[in-house]
Order: sequence, then structure tokens, then C-alpha cells
Amino acid sequence: MYKNKAVMVAVILAIVAIFVVFASTSVFKDDSQERYGEVSSPESEAMTEEAEIASTAVKDESTEALAQNEAGGVNETVTEHMEDSQEAVPETVVEDEVEATPTPTQELQSKAGDMMAEAESAAAGMAEDAETAAADIAQEAEQVVEEAKQAATGGEMHIVTAQGLKYSPLVIQIQPGDTVAWENMPTHDTQSIEGLIPEGAEAWHSELGKNYERTFSQEGIYVYKCTPHIGAGMGGAIIVGDPVNLDAIKAADAKGAEGRLARKAIAAAEAM
Ligand code: CU
Repeated sequence: MYKNKAVMVAVILAIVAIFVVFASTSVFKDDSQERYGEVSSPESEAMTEEAEIASTAVKDESTEALAQNEAGGVNETVTEHMEDSQEAVPETVVEDEVEATPTPTQELQSKAGDMMAEAESAAAGMAEDAETAAADIAQEAEQVVEEAKQAATGGEMHIVTAQGLKYSPLVIQIQPGDTVAWENMPTHDTQSIEGLIPEGAEAWHSELGKNYERTFSQEGIYVYKCTPHIGAGMGGAIIVGDPVNLDAIKAADAKGAEGRLARKAIAAAEAM
């Protein structure tokens, strides 16, 4: 679910990035055309000068004509002259601008291409970052859920550490709802021993070589072993709340290493 979200975010970012590139490209084009229009080549300056001169000449003519008009000349001639000169000047300038633009346009096109490539690589980078962030968030969420579970059961955490071929502490007393965590388990496991846990309680067998956690809700004595090392006496016992199955454990009369673990659990329960 997080991955899908990340991909969606990445796609949206990519679309936005491409849109921004298009938008900025067209802005640059307009902008630069104006700019290139202003930057006049020597030719266009010359043309502009000519146009100015022509305009001045026309003005002079019109002034003359106006004078004539005042003196009783024809008004139409003056108006025509003025219109002609005003039209002629802008046309020349516009042509000049159009001729000056082709090279900048090519530049802009290549610039736009570069920007597109940059945007694409940026989008790819963002997608990767988003995925990484999503994975981190997922991991954090898992941790929070784990803590919430712990809080919901209201139980305490008890650590049992494998030291050599022994569990320490060998017998622990906890309350219903508490959790036991076995740590430092590179070559060990924990397995409940049949007949040495409360009646109806769930048996367990953890994965070899892995730390393990188990929450105990049912009261009673639980005797467990490390399957590769029970021959060396490796195992332990957990007393959850009241040792309600003390008599059953005694009656099971376990032998060997399992029997030794059972007797330690019985001794601890009787001392409570
Ligand atoms: Cu072991």
C-alpha cells in the first residue's frame, strides 16, 4: 500500500515537473523574443536610423505642407504623407526583428531539451526518495504497532539471555500478559516441553538462531528447552502468576535434563 502511494506521488511529481518545464519554456520564449527584439544588430540600428531620418523628413514635409495648408494649400496631401511615413517605419523594424530570432530559437529548443532531461532525472530521483521514505515510514509504523500491542496487553517485558549453553535467568516469574524476550540466540531456540506446561496452554517452538518473543496470558509453570542443547541441560522455566500446575509438573516426573529443569521450576514455585 505504501509502495503504491509512493508511486502515485512520484507520478504526480513527474507530471508537475513536466508542466513546469513547458510553462517556463514558453515564458522564456516570449521573454527572450522581447529581449532579442531590443538587442539590435548594427544593421537594424542603421535601418532604424534611416527610418528616423525618413520620419524626420516626412515631418519636415508635413510641416511645410501644413504651412502651405495654412497658406491655403491642400490638406489631403499632408495626411497621406504622414500615414505613409508612420506605416513604413514599424514595418521595417518588425522585419528586422524576425530576421534576428532564428538562432535564439534553436538555443531555446536545446535549452528546453536539457530542462526536460533534467526534470525527468529529477522526477526519477524523487520517486526513489519517496520509496525510501515510504519504507522508513512503514518500518516506524510497524514499531509503533508493536509498542501499541505491548501497551494494550499492559504487560511488562522480561529478557532472557542465552549465555554459553545456559539461559539467564534460568527461572523467571512474571505476571499474566507479560512478555518474555529471548536474546543472543545465534545457535539456540526455545521449545515448550510437553506435559510441563499448564493444561490447555499453547505449545511453542521458536525458529533456530533467531531472537524470540512470547506473551504469556495463562497462569502456571512453563518448562522449556533449547532443542540443540538440551543434552547439555540448556533450558529454563517461566512461572506466570500462580503456579497452578505445580502438582501436575511434580506428577509428570520428568527424567534427565528435562527433569533437572522441572525440579528447578518446582523449587522456585514452592519458594513463592
Ligand atoms: Cu541452545
